[in-house]
Amino acid sequence: MLAFQFVKGKKMWKSLGWCLFFTCILIPLVDADWNILKLSRNGLKISLKNYCESWRLNVELHNIRQFEVVPEECIEYIGKYMKSTQYKVDSQRTTEECLVYLSTSCNLKNDGRDAWIFDIDDTLLSTVPYYKNNQYGGNKLNVTSLEEWIRKGKAPALDHSLKLFNELKYRGIQIILVTSRREHLRSATIDNLLNVGYYGWTRIVFRDIANEFVSIKKYKCDVRKELMDEGYRIWGTLGDQRSSIDGSPSPRRAFKLPNPMYYVA
Ligand SMILES: *[C@@H]1O[C@H](CO)[C@@H](O)[C@H](O)[C@H]1NC(C)=O
Repeated sequence: MLAFQFVKGKKMWKSLGWCLFFTCILIPLVDADWNILKLSRNGLKISLKNYCESWRLNVELHNIRQFEVVPEECIEYIGKYMKSTQYKVDSQRTTEECLVYLSTSCNLKNDGRDAWIFDIDDTLLSTVPYYKNNQYGGNKLNVTSLEEWIRKGKAPALDHSLKLFNELKYRGIQIILVTSRREHLRSATIDNLLNVGYYGWTRIVFRDIANEFVSIKKYKCDVRKELMDEGYRIWGTLGDQRSSIDGSPSPRRAFKLPNPMYYVA
């Protein structure tokens, strides 16, 4: 009798197990619109979405560096992210945190020397329309075609960045734009910025011939040093690349917007 009940109990657990297997494992698998990769890490079966999400996160964490292209298997995932509400929410959160920091941790002097540095591409202006036609970073960078696109001056504003830009202006902070765009794109860039609503910056710095042979990071550090030597207090920077943030002298705080499409060193 006892043995029988034991067997029955075991059977019941077995069928419950199958039931759980079907509802929790099989049905979601069938539902999922992504392919299951035969990827296994330490016995962990992961999906393509898991794989690409972790690739993206590790790019943002700056664990993955110097990548030349988005991995082929993640092009679709990165494209979806760049078009998603999530990308907008992530970016908006970044700019909101800039304002939290300004309101809680900055003692602005309002003497014309309080400053904030903005990067341009994928910080103030979006290059997503260009990268949309270039596999969202899945194609190797072609400077010629990127510059042709920039010259058209059709880059849209990133709305949350425009809001932050205007808020800083309203608070009397000097806005300084430091871009990796080259000097010959100056007028196209300024026209583009004005057309989408950015105006009233204090200075805009482009990469000149002398700066073309140093890294973007070094160039941006040199500009910060010049500004500090002139007496500017750089309360913060906003950029989408670590090369806008890293190195010395550093701004008091740096904020990074998401950008998994390309890496600028
Ligand atoms: C880069 O872009 C230019 C201009 O669109 C094009 O003529 C050239 O073939 C491209 N180069 C490569 C390697 O794809």
